[in-house]
Amino acid sequence: MSKVTIDTSTSRATPSPVPGKRMTAPSLRARKIDGKTEQPIVMLTAYTMRMAQLLDPHCDMLLVGDSLGQVIYGLPSTIPVTMEMMCAHGAAVVRGSWHALVAVDMPFGSYEQSPAQAFASASRIMKETGCAAIKLEGGEAIAPTIEFLTHRGIPVIGHVGLTPQAVNTLGGYGARGREQREADKILADARAVDQAGAFCIVVEGVMEDIATEIARSVSAPVIGIGASAECDGQVLVIDDMLGMFERTPRFVKRYDDLAERIGEAARTYAEEVRARSFPTSDQTYRPKG
Ligand code: KIV
Repeated sequence: MSKVTIDTSTSRATPSPVPGKRMTAPSLRARKIDGKTEQPIVMLTAYTMRMAQLLDPHCDMLLVGDSLGQVIYGLPSTIPVTMEMMCAHGAAVVRGSWHALVAVDMPFGSYEQSPAQAFASASRIMKETGCAAIKLEGGEAIAPTIEFLTHRGIPVIGHVGLTPQAVNTLGGYGARGREQREADKILADARAVDQAGAFCIVVEGVMEDIATEIARSVSAPVIGIGASAECDGQVLVIDDMLGMFERTPRFVKRYDDLAERIGEAARTYAEEVRARSFPTSDQTYRPKG
């Protein structure tokens, strides 16, 4: 792993030694050849500079997901997430990374009205963050917007299946596509987003066979979350996979139990402060010599 130093004059995380080029949308899109992806695409969400630094060497893409609404801000859903939040966290993640492609979610209300509205929001996100792609939710209805953006120099990641910004019309966060009519609609959505030019498609919270069928029938790489191991890549919300929450969805695998370890560290610290056993001479300044 590269050593990282922070240039405090610009706040930019500068890797040392300077590694190679960042992943690009075309290079990731090109991983899928004739419907097959030899090297699965690794994606995680990141919301802060330091987490980006830690994840970057291991990931092809870092997603500044609007899940930051719940994860960082304690909001009840992604609906209240703002452009300002996405831009601030997107810029931090770009500063903390050098290898992975950084994609930033378009927040609810910033793109649905028209392709022109979407272009204004996406270009603002790209200018303010330095990210190389945006992600937006929706299928057939949003496909013309995806085409509009991709024809104007904006790499787009689609997102179909369980689309959390539509929680109020979906009626919850349950897995989608249990009934044939809904399964057909999800497949049609994925095909429309693919044909509109998305360079990747996130498929979230669907029956495994639907995700597999989508991955086999669209030309863009499909990134699964609660989907299928047959997808061309996988994404998880970083705080979920690190075990930061007591409850996680069924599709999350916990790779650590950070919530417990942080609680334990805080408990030990509190005990030592109360016992006056912290700080010791190791952590205090004394005159030299
Ligand atoms: O907002 C987010 O984190 C996402 C991922 C779950 C794909 O959209």
